[in-house]
Amino acid sequence: MPCEMVDPIEIIKKEHQIIQKYISELDEMTYSVSVNVRDLSFMFKEVFRFLEQHEKKEELLFEALSDGGYEIAIEQVKFEHGDIKEKRDIVLKAINKGDEGEIKGVLHIECAELVDRIKAHILAEEGAMDKIRWDKVDKDTVEKIELLQIVPSRKLL
Ligand SMILES: [Fe+2]
Ligand SMILES: [Fe+2]
Repeated sequence: MPCEMVDPIEIIKKEHQIIQKYISELDEMTYSVSVNVRDLSFMFKEVFRFLEQHEKKEELLFEALSDGGYEIAIEQVKFEHGDIKEKRDIVLKAINKGDEGEIKGVLHIECAELVDRIKAHILAEEGAMDKIRWDKVDKDTVEKIELLQIVPSRKLL
């Protein structure tokens, strides 16, 4: 099917690569004994700013695909996004409070778990997307998705 639109599944997948890179940096910080709180705070906020934009696109795309009869567990995806946000807020709260001991405690437990959850979440999404070929998606669904204007992050350009 000729389509001038960039494959949105490909956009999501490429953004996953960026998130995975971010996440492994964050992961390293959680295990580092001499973590710099300022660096961590900056990095953490950066990661989640990106992740939030990504999740918005993802929910729009997955919802449209799911409506079109494609096998995407949209409710599960949304639930996991909420779950990730909850954990993120716990870490963010400690970061904003600025107490170093507390931040380190939260890092080893909450943040480490957050990293694991994001990794598992991405893996599940990739698995679902691997079953869908954009050039085989029906015309109605493609038209609906085109209207959503899912654009790649500037970091991909
Ligand atoms: Fe997601
Ligand atoms: Fe994702």
